[in-house]
Amino acid sequence: MPTVTTPITIRGNIIRNRIAMLPMVTFSFKGGGDAYYGKQHVEHYTNAARAGAGLIILQSTNVVGVERGEGMWTAGSLEALRAIARNATAQGATVMMQLAGGSDADGDINDWSTADVLDRQRALKMAAVKAAELGFHGVEYHFAHGFTLCRFMDAAYNQRTDEFGGSLENRLRIVTDILPEVREQVPDNFIISARMGEFVPTAEDGAAAAVHLERCGIDLLDVSFGMRMPEGPVPEGFEFSPVTHSGYAIKRVVSIPVIGVYGIRTPGQARRLVEGGYADMAGVGRAMLADPGFASAVLDGTPYRQCLACKRCFWFTDHTLCPAGKLPETL
Ligand SMILES: Cc1cc2nc3c(=O)[nH]c(=O)nc-3n(C[C@H](O)[C@H](O)[C@H](O)COP(=O)(O)O)c2cc1C
Repeated sequence: MPTVTTPITIRGNIIRNRIAMLPMVTFSFKGGGDAYYGKQHVEHYTNAARAGAGLIILQSTNVVGVERGEGMWTAGSLEALRAIARNATAQGATVMMQLAGGSDADGDINDWSTADVLDRQRALKMAAVKAAELGFHGVEYHFAHGFTLCRFMDAAYNQRTDEFGGSLENRLRIVTDILPEVREQVPDNFIISARMGEFVPTAEDGAAAAVHLERCGIDLLDVSFGMRMPEGPVPEGFEFSPVTHSGYAIKRVVSIPVIGVYGIRTPGQARRLVEGGYADMAGVGRAMLADPGFASAVLDGTPYRQCLACKRCFWFTDHTLCPAGKLPETL
């Protein structure tokens, strides 16, 4: 059984260990000028790479605007993104962008015309190609957390009657249809991942979606939650959360690697998640916000500041209020 320090090869990329920084929007960072991304982001992700994270998945980037260099894709943002990819790679990390299929500003996906979906498919494709050009090793399509692509995937939410609704194949088509075209335009070893939930809305739907995504050429699954958080219970003896259990359930039906997530706040938890065979990689979110050096705590046992799992994470509003930074380090 691999340990958290065992490298893992995904589509020919040797990822140096099994610690994955999860995608997390840094709401209070400023880009500068008209740029969404800027120096603060470059520093943040470079630090995570320097601490030893094997895989870094950048915060969610909305694909809308990619075609015209607008939204999150202005020249200044692209420059920062290029610097993130370059620095993280130089530090030995594998680094990917997370691509969101839209935002609430787009309205209900059930009201979109077929032409609207085809437009969005073009942006989803172009954003992946752009990520490759910027130097990223891959992208993750964000099918989780009730956002746009999640609404397409969820069999109860998606009420469309065209080729983007109904059957499982149709509900995933917004991304699966474009994969061959993306593959033609990116390097052979470009990783394409999907973040998804198990209950979409049933566990059977989630398992079927995961199997279909693998069949369509997805290289990696990052299993979080779908339209809402699962409440459990988890089987007796399983020390992690219901979300983490979803990753374990999905791992058993696919052969591509699965990132297990939620509530990994100590080096011991990260180790046991992988060594127990519950996930191929330990996904770490807030613990890396609380202490950007968390990966080196897992790898080398260095002291770190532990995430306090605040009821509402301060990184959603003002990261300078995160209480972890004010605590003494623990081992
Ligand atoms: C401030 C903040 C921002 C987040 N932004 C994203 C995001 O952009 N995309 C995403 O898929 N999940 C996002 N998440 C969810 C995390 O990726 C992760 O799944 C969640 O925090 C649970 O893992 P953890 O317990 O290790 O933090 C965010 C979470 C936080 C706290």
